[in-house]
Amino acid sequence: MQSLLNKKIVLGISGGIAAYKTPELARQLMQEGASVQVVMTEAATQFVTPVTMQALTGNPVYTSQWDSSISNNMAHIELSRAADAIVIAPASADLMAKLSLGLADDLLSTLCLARDCPLLLVPAMNKQMWEHAATQRSVKRLEQDKVTLLGPASGFQACGEVGMGRMLEPSEIAEQVIAFFQKKTLLGKKVLITAGPTFEAIDPVRGITNHSSGKMGFAIARAAVEAGAQVQLIAGPCDLATPLEATGKIARTNVTSAREMHLAVLNDADYDIFFAVAAVADWGIAKPSKEKIKRQGKDAPSIEFIANPDILLDVAKTVKTKGGKPYPYCVGFAAESTDLEAHAAEKRQRKGIPMVVGNIGHETFGSDLNQLLVVDETGSKKIAKAEKLQLARQLITLVAKKI
Ligand code: C5P
Repeated sequence: MQSLLNKKIVLGISGGIAAYKTPELARQLMQEGASVQVVMTEAATQFVTPVTMQALTGNPVYTSQWDSSISNNMAHIELSRAADAIVIAPASADLMAKLSLGLADDLLSTLCLARDCPLLLVPAMNKQMWEHAATQRSVKRLEQDKVTLLGPASGFQACGEVGMGRMLEPSEIAEQVIAFFQKKTLLGKKVLITAGPTFEAIDPVRGITNHSSGKMGFAIARAAVEAGAQVQLIAGPCDLATPLEATGKIARTNVTSAREMHLAVLNDADYDIFFAVAAVADWGIAKPSKEKIKRQGKDAPSIEFIANPDILLDVAKTVKTKGGKPYPYCVGFAAESTDLEAHAAEKRQRKGIPMVVGNIGHETFGSDLNQLLVVDETGSKKIAKAEKLQLARQLITLVAKKI
């Protein structure tokens, strides 16, 4: 699935050492289906060449407002009218100051002033320059002018210092550009999500877990942030990266056992939607051994299980109504080996929740693809096989309508 299909992006580059990462950004935007038109300041050409950018994007690169190759010689108007967004990475302190004042003394700044499309800036500069009162004034003015700033991040800088001002990584920028274009159906809403498996320790080296990869829960977390929500993600053991982490719109708590997950969920309050996506172990180990259990000849040890708390059921018990709607709106998940529809409907009744989403088929574990069966008060409907992120976006749209 390409999330930027048919999108036309003007990719601006200003003069900063982080420009060495911009070719990779161009590639990632194009891999998502965008067409990329590069415009560079003169200073940017000291860091990355127009030839590189032209070869990667397949489009001529513009560096001067005096370029006569555009037929009416009005590149600043032509390029902005054709674009769905202008993304500038890196955006230097100088360029940000210029844009905040409405100055237009080269092609890129003129293009920004003449635009009728959104402008996204990805700042990159030394931490002293970022913290300078003048730059912070530029930031405030740009935000007042509805310019979107992506980052900066904190960390190791090319100058050898450590601090705020690092450009986001190309993958983080691409993720945020994709998010920018998604519908904001959950703006201002808070969403709690459990994801991944749990691990029930038998002793310090052994335990019981399941095949859940966490991919569906993480995809829902990404889709919820894309839709404008603030997300709390409670993840069992899985090595997936937190989606859209650099937005600050997602907080992640890592847990191991079902009991830890239960505590982490109940510790949270006041959220609009709860997605219980985690494959929680039904049973924990009654007395996990503090030492590794040694082999005793041919005898196998017997392990006593205890029932784990039902996290979703306990959240469902706290549901109130707000504006005539259930609060939080609870969505359960079902992975069954037989009779999915009947089991999902039974789960919905038993837990007293408005929606259960069934995973159709078993190949969903670890796969990027899935197929869903949504069971709610209106009956059941299938969501056709697609990438988990695409399904997650459809699910978010569906639930946003319910609340
Ligand atoms: O039928 P079952 O109780 O396993 O229902 C599965 C749903 O309940 C899933 O949404 C799962 O995340 C949630 N669940 C839970 N706590 C448990 C077991 C399941 O939240 N202990």
